[in-house]
Parts: sequence; C-alpha cells; structure tokens
Amino acid sequence: MTNSGSRASLARDFERFQRELPRDFPAHVRDAYRINLSARYLGEPIPHPVGKGSGQLSLNVGQLETDAEAGLAFAVLKTVIAQDATGAQSMAAWAIHETKMKIERRGGGWTVTWKGRGWDRSFADYLALVRAGRDLTRAGQLLTVPSVKYHLPRLDEPFRDDEYAFTTRALAQAWGKSPLLLEKDFSPTLAGDQLADEKEQILRWLRDVPQRIRAHGEVRLAMKLMNARFDDDFQREMMEAAGRADALVVFNRLFDSVQGAAYGGTELSDRNLRVLDRPSARPPVRPSLSGTGNIHSGRMIVEYARRGSSSVQLHTFFQLPLEEYPATDGSRTQRALHALIFDPRDGLIATLLHLEETGVLARRDGELHFLDLLPDAYRPR
Ligand SMILES: Cc1cc2nc3c(=O)[nH]c(=O)nc-3n(C[C@H](O)[C@H](O)[C@H](O)COP(=O)(O)O)c2cc1C
Repeated sequence: MTNSGSRASLARDFERFQRELPRDFPAHVRDAYRINLSARYLGEPIPHPVGKGSGQLSLNVGQLETDAEAGLAFAVLKTVIAQDATGAQSMAAWAIHETKMKIERRGGGWTVTWKGRGWDRSFADYLALVRAGRDLTRAGQLLTVPSVKYHLPRLDEPFRDDEYAFTTRALAQAWGKSPLLLEKDFSPTLAGDQLADEKEQILRWLRDVPQRIRAHGEVRLAMKLMNARFDDDFQREMMEAAGRADALVVFNRLFDSVQGAAYGGTELSDRNLRVLDRPSARPPVRPSLSGTGNIHSGRMIVEYARRGSSSVQLHTFFQLPLEEYPATDGSRTQRALHALIFDPRDGLIATLLHLEETGVLARRDGELHFLDLLPDAYRPR
C-alpha cells in the first residue's frame, strides 16, 4: 500500500475504532500498515510499547483486568514500601493514605496533583495483588510487574538488609517462577526529602541497590530514577551510576518544594528528553530504557524511543476527563490507546509513516519496525 493509501486507512480506522478498539490491534496494524509495533520492557517482548506506570491506576485486580481486556502491553503495580519480618518499615513515611487526586492543566500539558505516596494497605494484600498479576502474566493477557521502595540509608549508615531480604523473598515466592521482574522506585517525594540532599548519597544508592536486592533472589531489575534537584549533568551521572540495573525508567515526576507535591506536564518531558539527549559513552544494550513523563501522543512515544526507550509508561494520560479522548466508548485505557496509536495527526502510526516519508525510518522486509527508532546502543539484540 502507498503511504497515501495508508493515510486513508488510518482515517477510517481512527473513526471506526472510536467505538471499540480491537484487543489485538498490533496484529491489525501489522496487517493493514505493515508496521511492526513490537517493543521490549525489562527484556520481555511486548506487542507494542505502551504500558502503565506504577501508581493509583494499578491498585486492584479490577484495574488490571480492564487493562488486560484493552490490550495494554504491561502494567507496573503501585509501589509497596519494603518491610522486615516483623513488619517494620524504615521508609514508613511513604506509606501514607491519601485518596484525593486533582487533574489539571500545567504548561500546555496535564498534571495530577496528589499528596499520597506508596501502598497503604497490608503487605499481605499487596502479595495477593502480585499473585493476581502473575496469573494474568502467565495467561499471556497482561505483563505485570511489582514495584518496591526499599530502605535508602544516609552515607554513614548501612543498608537494612533485613527489609531487602524479607520483601524480595516474599515477592519472589508469590511470583513463583524465576526471574522475578521488579521495579525499584526512587520517587519524586524522595527527591524533595532531606535524604536526597547529597549527590554522593544518591550515587551510592544507585550503585549498591541492585546487588542488595539480587542477594535475596533472582531478580531482573528496573530502577525508576527520580528527577533529582540537581542539574542535567548530575541526572546523567545518576544513569551511569545505575548501570548495574537491567533497565532504567526515565524519569519520574518533578518535585515542587513550595507546594510540597510532585508534578508533570511539559516541564517534565522537556527535562527528561533534554537529559536523554546528552551524549554518553554507554556500553551497548544494558540497561535498557523505559520512558515516562508527559506522554500523551504517538509523537511523544517516538521522542522517547529515538532517545533509547524500548517501551513507555504512562499515568496521567490514563486519567484525563472522558471528553478529552476522541473515542466515544470503552474504558479509559482503550480510549487512551486509541488516541496514542490511531490519531491521524500525531498518533504512533501517523508519526512512523511521516518518518518513513522523510527518510528517517526505512522498511526492512517490507515492514517499518518501532524498535528501529532506537539508537544502536539501545537496540535489543
Ligand atoms: C497520582 C500518581 C501516583 C503515582 N504513584 C507512583 C508510585 O507509587 N510509584 C512510582 O514509581 N511512580 C508513581 N507515579 C509516577 C507515574 O508512574 C509516572 O511515572 C509519572 O507520573 C510520569 O508519567 P505521566 O506524565 O504519564 O504521569 C505516580 C504518578 C501519579 C500521577
């Protein structure tokens, strides 16, 4: 099909999928457009790049089932605060309860204002959610991955290994199969905390946390890096220090110390993309990257991919007011995916076709490949 033929099909698909997005839309995209959306998260092959970042939208089984039905590629569970065998949590200040979320515009984008932090129910409840996620993963319906905030010491303190041991083992046992895929969250509220005042302290965490976790189980580890309150060079230094992780999630929300709250929007994607643009002498392939921050269009997915991200994780775009989505029916997850993939102006298909027309992306064996957007050093082999 010529690109003008593809454009006409895209306009038609966008319109007919407004009512219902087919669950296996990646197969349709491959068939109809010869575009291969295959992507990777934490080394796992996924049918397309769009997943859900950890947070309030992955707190219960109902949310996961809706995501599985919509054909989301993966979901990261809400962050649980690590504990030892007695239930003690050194990061207990992060396990606070807060329900109110406010979605508002910020600098041309959207942001969610919310003062809550980590998982605020029991650890046993979290393990039940992990088991439900495991079952969906095994059934091939939705890759799910737990997320943990473990103890982070001051420079002159040791790591509390009993929290690392108890939490990692309990999660590995709930998951059953090795390896356990896991995200370690370094959150924006942490960036706003006194604990993160010192660069050396942060770099030590990033260097040491992978082996602290892996000492207690076979774990494939993604580290979700915070936007520290230092300059872009330091943000890059953090990425280098975190080189022992299998993947990095780049980068969690910014912290507004006046409001005492995390925020996103265009400031967040500007900062993230700017940092990812900085040259680095990284070795090929490891850690892989998963982009996060103000992703609300296929065009923005491509921005992160061209800077190395083999998948993306969204939160805010899955919680817009319903009238902001072009779809008229379906769950928020379906409506968001419909816009991200099929929008004829700045959806993923339209953006990939545009890159082909301008000679940036070429077909291989007749297909355009999403993963071909990644620079060489980031491309999975
Ligand atoms: C209300 C809310 C709660 C969040 N909770 C967590 C969390 O517990 N753990 C985590 O790693 N990230 C958390 N995040 C960050 C998101 O997963 C995501 O990385 C971030 O918001 C940037 O993406 P976005 O601009 O699409 O929202 C949260 C975000 C929001 C808005």
